[in-house]
Amino acid sequence: MKKSLLDYTLRIRLPIVLFVAIAASVATYFISRAERDGVGYAPVQPIAFSHKLHAGTMRIDCKYCHTGVTSSPNAMVPPASTCMNCHSVARKNKPEIIKLTKFYQDSAAIPWKRVHKVPDYAYFNHSAHVNKGIDCANCHGKVENMDVVQQVSEFTMAACLNCHRNATTQLANVPNIKNGPTNCSACHR
Ligand code: HEC
Ligand code: HEC
Ligand code: HEC
Ligand code: HEC
Ligand code: HEC
Repeated sequence: MKKSLLDYTLRIRLPIVLFVAIAASVATYFISRAERDGVGYAPVQPIAFSHKLHAGTMRIDCKYCHTGVTSSPNAMVPPASTCMNCHSVARKNKPEIIKLTKFYQDSAAIPWKRVHKVPDYAYFNHSAHVNKGIDCANCHGKVENMDVVQQVSEFTMAACLNCHRNATTQLANVPNIKNGPTNCSACHR
């Protein structure tokens, strides 16, 4: 009996306690900068959330969670309550879901590590691209095949301009696509 209780404490309780301590000292997602820029960056996340499972196998629409993509500059990352729509029931006894539930019950933001970020002096807008019919994969790769999200394209000024100059050929499959702006004030306001 004692042994299994100890096991439980070490395996499940301890990581949660550590986690909350860490969470309290981490800046929130939206004011944070990616710790490292560039292709290949794939930080370990606080909860082992898999896009491959949710967006790939289960085919949940990207917009169900990233609610800003058609209406705002930011794609947004979902609050724990979005996850709890399913996980108040689904797999609720699994360690990662217990972690998730604890964030939800504490009304604490999950300290997701930001993967992509352009510097504050450059302006990017999701809705301006997504509403023209440009697919997420053009910039983020096939996220629905990733267990852990990783940056696959450069977001340097040269990369933005490369597509802006050549969109009519690079995105020939997108109906009525025009080239993007190349004047400085479009991206530096
Ligand atoms: C539409 C329902 C739905 C939503 C929304 C959802 N999930 Fe899931 N999730 C599931 C189901 C169902 C499974 C189990 C799938 C399987 O194993 O076949 C699962 C599995 C998981 C697992 C693996 C659990 C294990 O077996 O160890 C994690 C972790 C997870 N989800 C985290 C999240 C997080 C975090 C969110 C919110 C960002 C979220 N999920 C949103 C339905 C959902
Ligand atoms: C069930 C909810 C859910 C769905 C569906 C979902 N995502 Fe996510 N997404 C998240 C969460 C939570 C994070 C933050 C954790 C992480 O990076 O894995 C995230 C992170 C991301 C990131 C990295 C954000 C950053 O920090 O730079 C990208 C890019 C992304 N998602 C694209 C997509 C695309 C494309 C789809 C559809 C193919 C999709 N997501 C579907 C919940 C979801
Ligand atoms: C034209 C390129 C492009 C397209 C298309 C695009 N993204 Fe992004 N995405 C970016 C850039 C650039 C950033 C970094 C933005 C910043 O720092 O403000 C980013 C950041 C993100 C983030 C994290 C920060 C945030 O904005 O909330 C998520 C989540 C995300 N994208 C999801 C998506 C999803 C889902 C789609 C498709 C519906 C998509 N993106 C389409 C370029 C793109
Ligand atoms: C895959 C191609 C592609 C990439 C990569 C891309 N863009 Fe664009 N962008 C476009 C296209 C196409 C348009 C013009 C759409 C239209 O008006 O038909 C556009 C439009 C814009 C606009 C004008 C939005 C408005 O409000 O009218 C801004 C600002 C912008 N992009 C910024 C960026 C930045 C910053 C980056 C790099 C981080 C970037 N884009 C990367 C294709 C791209
Ligand atoms: C399509 C969007 C876009 C346009 C148009 C654009 N820029 Fe940029 N610019 C960016 C982005 C994104 C960055 C950040 C790049 C990075 O992190 O590597 C940047 C970075 C810069 C930097 C900092 C470079 C560095 O290495 O630190 C300068 C200076 C700059 N831009 C000047 C300009 C000037 C001048 C113009 C007009 C001739 C211009 N930009 C047009 C998107 C753009």
